[in-house]
Amino acid sequence: MINEDVATLTSGIRTLAEEVGYKYAAIERTHRFRFLFDPMRLLTQNAQLLAYLDGKNAFPTSVELDPSNVCNHDCSFCIYHSMHSAERGERLETTVLFRVIEELAELGCQSILFVGGGEPMTHPATVDAIERAAGHGMSVGLVTNGSRVFPEHAARLKQAATYVRFSLDAADPRLHARLHRNDDHHRIVANLRALAEADGPCTVGTGFFINEVNVGDTVACGRLVKDCGVDYIQYKSYSGIAIDRELHERMLRELAEAIELDDETFDVHIVDRIFDNAVHQVRGYSRCHWQAFKPVIGADGSVYLCAQKRTSTDGVIGNVNTTSLSEIWHGEQRRQVLAELDLKRCPFCVHDRQNKLIEFLGSFAAPHRAFF
Ligand SMILES: C[S@@+](CC[C@H](N)C(=O)[O-])C[C@H]1O[C@@H](n2cnc3c(N)ncnc32)[C@H](O)[C@@H]1O
Ligand code: SF4
Repeated sequence: MINEDVATLTSGIRTLAEEVGYKYAAIERTHRFRFLFDPMRLLTQNAQLLAYLDGKNAFPTSVELDPSNVCNHDCSFCIYHSMHSAERGERLETTVLFRVIEELAELGCQSILFVGGGEPMTHPATVDAIERAAGHGMSVGLVTNGSRVFPEHAARLKQAATYVRFSLDAADPRLHARLHRNDDHHRIVANLRALAEADGPCTVGTGFFINEVNVGDTVACGRLVKDCGVDYIQYKSYSGIAIDRELHERMLRELAEAIELDDETFDVHIVDRIFDNAVHQVRGYSRCHWQAFKPVIGADGSVYLCAQKRTSTDGVIGNVNTTSLSEIWHGEQRRQVLAELDLKRCPFCVHDRQNKLIEFLGSFAAPHRAFF
C-alpha cells in the first residue's frame, strides 16, 4: 500500500543493483578517468552539437574504422560473428586504408577508433595507420583481442595511440579458450604486460564481457590485469538481451567484490546498463541523430550509419573503395538511406540516450519554459 511512508518505501538501497550502484558511484568519484564510458560525454562536444542543431551537415569529428573483418578468435558471444566467415574475410587495401586516414585528416576528423568487424591487428598495416593518424594530430583508440599486439608494437602504440583496450574476458586460460576459442591466453597476457610497461602517454585498459561462462572469473581477471600494470578494467555485458535474474545477481555480487580492486593506480569501470538490465526501448525521437556523429568505415569499404548497422545492408551509405568520404557524406545514397530509415527496425541502440538528448535540445518547446 502506498501511503505517507512512500519516502521510506522508495528511498535508500532496496535492491542489490542499487547497493552495488551506490558503491560504484562512490569509487567513480575518485577515478582518474571519470565517466570514461558515459553516454553523456556527448554534451562536451558543444561545437558539433550546435552545428548539428543549426542544420549543418558537417562530416563527423569521430569515426570507427575496421581494418579487417578477419578474426583469429571465434568468441561464442561475438556480435559480429557473421562477418568472420571464410567467404567474407575482407581487409581494407592498405592504399585505401592510408587514403582514408588522409581524407579524415582533411575533413577535420579528431578521433578514430580502430576496431572491428574482426580483429584490427590481423591487418598488417594497422600500427602504421595508427601512427599516420596520430601524425595528423588525431586521437586514436584501438580495441583488440590482444593476441597480435606483440611486444615489438608496444613502444610504437604507447607513443601514437590515445588508448588501447584488450578484450580479455578471463583470467583462467581454459575459460578464455572456451570463450574465445583460441588457446593463446598466455601470449595475450605477455603482450598486455609489455604494453603496460612500455613508455608513452597512451592509456592501457582491458574489457571484460561478463556472461554465464566467465562470471566466476570477474574478480580474478580484475586482479590479473591490475597485476599487469594496466590503467583500468571495463566490465560490460549483453545489451538488449535480458540477463536472467540469477545470473544478474551473481554478476552484481562479483562486481561488488571487483570494485574493491579500484585504487589510485587502477580504475574499475562498470558500464551503466549492467545495473538496470533493461531490454526495451521506445525510440520516441523523430529521427536518428547519432548517425551524424559517429559513422563506421568497414573492412569491405562500406560506410555504415553507425556501429550497430555493421551487420545489415540497410545502413550502408557508400563505399570508400570507389567514393571519397566527402562525396559519400553529401551523396544521394546517404540521403536515401536516411529517408528510409525505420527506427523500429533498428537493433537495440546503445546510443538511445544520446538520441533522446539531442532530440530534446533541438525541439524543446514547452509553453512554460521558464519553469523547471
Ligand atoms: C567485436 S570486437 C572487435 C575488436 C576485437 N576483435 C576485440 O575483440 O576487441 C569489439 C568489442 O565488442 C565486444 N563484443 C563482442 N560481442 C559483443 C556482444 N554480443 N555484446 C556486446 N559487446 C560485444 C567485444 O567484447 C569487444 O570488446
Ligand atoms: S576477438 Fe573480437 S571480433 Fe573476434 S570473435 Fe572475439 S569479440 Fe569477435
